[in-house]
Amino acid sequence: MLDVVRKLAAPIEINMPLAQALGRRRSSREFSETPLDEALLSALLWACAGNNLPDGHRTVPSALDCREVKAYVIDSQGVWRYDPTENTLTQTASGDQRAATTAGQDFVLKAPVTIVFVQEKALSEPLEGDGGLLCVCVDTGCMIQAAQLACAAMGLASVPRAWFDAKKLREAMGLDENFVPVMTLTVGFPA
Ligand SMILES: Cc1cc2nc3c(=O)[nH]c(=O)nc-3n(C[C@H](O)[C@H](O)[C@H](O)COP(=O)(O)O)c2cc1C
Repeated sequence: MLDVVRKLAAPIEINMPLAQALGRRRSSREFSETPLDEALLSALLWACAGNNLPDGHRTVPSALDCREVKAYVIDSQGVWRYDPTENTLTQTASGDQRAATTAGQDFVLKAPVTIVFVQEKALSEPLEGDGGLLCVCVDTGCMIQAAQLACAAMGLASVPRAWFDAKKLREAMGLDENFVPVMTLTVGFPA
């Protein structure tokens, strides 16, 4: 059933010193199948796409403050759009769509969660032309780095991934042409 809304648990407090988290950031492709605790997922989403001011400003910068890149969660149950204000996940597609996030890297099917960073074209209209596209990519990169630091600080394995078929992934996510999957980050406990 679509439009199911999942209220996430409150995020855990990420309290590892920044230098230590920077020292531990790594891309890892060896995952356990153990599901992610919701409080960890909630903290991860807050770190990369959450609000750190009541007016909607986020933990990450964005060009012209468009905030055009949103985080989606893909797990064995479906595809979910993160709402940072409500700390909820709203379902956009059902079933296990993790295979659609890769063009052939098998470890992705083992990891419990892949986060997809999706450009919403309606929000990125001020970002025109090649320069605008670069800004969308940089905005996404900021989110990826924040997510990987949070993973390092919480003892989670993660790997950013660009190797996927964007059209196939978009369709599996239940999204139309106004949405563009830009990057993915596969996350789980280390094997
Ligand atoms: C834009 C970008 C795309 C990437 N795409 C993939 C990918 O599709 N699959 C993969 O396994 N790793 C991918 N990576 C991870 C890199 O291979 C990894 O960051 C690099 O080997 C350096 O390792 P480190 O992150 O542990 O320092 C990507 C990284 C970036 C920044």
